[in-house]
Amino acid sequence: MGAAALRWPAGGPGRQRRGTARLDRRRRPPRRPAHALSPRDPGALGRKDHLAPQPAGAPARSPQTLSGRLLGIGTGPGDPELVTLKAVRLTRTAGLVVSLAASGRPSRARRIMAPHLPTGVPEITVELDMGPDRTAVDRAYDQLALDIRAEVARGHDVAVLCEGDPLLFGTFIYLLQRLPDLPVEIVPGISSPHAAAARAAWPLATGDRAFAVLPATMGIDRLRERLARVDAAAIIKVGSHLPAVRALLGEWGLAGEALLAVQATTEAEAITPLGAYAGETAPYFSLVLTRGLGGARG
Ligand SMILES: C[S@@+](CC[C@H](N)C(=O)[O-])C[C@H]1O[C@@H](n2cnc3c(N)ncnc32)[C@H](O)[C@@H]1O
Repeated sequence: MGAAALRWPAGGPGRQRRGTARLDRRRRPPRRPAHALSPRDPGALGRKDHLAPQPAGAPARSPQTLSGRLLGIGTGPGDPELVTLKAVRLTRTAGLVVSLAASGRPSRARRIMAPHLPTGVPEITVELDMGPDRTAVDRAYDQLALDIRAEVARGHDVAVLCEGDPLLFGTFIYLLQRLPDLPVEIVPGISSPHAAAARAAWPLATGDRAFAVLPATMGIDRLRERLARVDAAAIIKVGSHLPAVRALLGEWGLAGEALLAVQATTEAEAITPLGAYAGETAPYFSLVLTRGLGGARG
């Protein structure tokens, strides 16, 4: 399997290329005129311009800033009702919708957004080989970034769907880093820690307490050190690290009250006390909500 493969939805063009993110223009609606971008639309002004105050009487934007935009669309944690109105509007009107998926798997972000998308939306799915070798996946991001740049230069908005929030451990970040000069608009999504906490009615932080989002992939020693300093944490990417996480929290007497949230807000949701979970590994879409040692002592 190549680093990346395009998957068209049923009925879409049969043409596929692996290792690239080649974009097909046949299904695209007429190009939106550049002047259709509202001057008040932050993405239309470019990242740096948007942050800087715009002086009264500032010169008109250059033709380059009248191009399309890179849109980072947060789709939320799983429940399509948790997609924001803005995410739906910008995705429906984009010139191209890009979904990312691990090889052989459906795109979770695409599935979350599916009920909101009209049929025939111009879109591609890019399959990424998430094996241990980062080279292939990096090359795929490089190619996709080139293709997105070309689309944006043609005046199209390119909406990249990202589950949860795009800027919280989101794949969108890898594209944002490769395209620092493009006009961008990012629609925040409800993150998985927020979703799990809401489903479990589990307060994340109050007053001057510290809450952290910690990937279990950082290794148990770093996790131990970070957890010792915060009052509460969401431990994401638990997967095969579950036994180590459970042992660490058990050692500190926290396993009894910690929660394992699997597929929060989806039909497959299961939220159980960590101590009661029998599995040796946790599904990919699961996280642990726990107090930290700071919280245990406080
Ligand atoms: C690459 S991170 C993406 C995080 C995402 N951008 C967010 O804002 O939540 C993937 C991890 O998020 C967590 N995750 C995502 N969706 C989840 C859900 N619905 N329920 C539980 N955990 C979830 C899992 O720990 C998973 O391994």
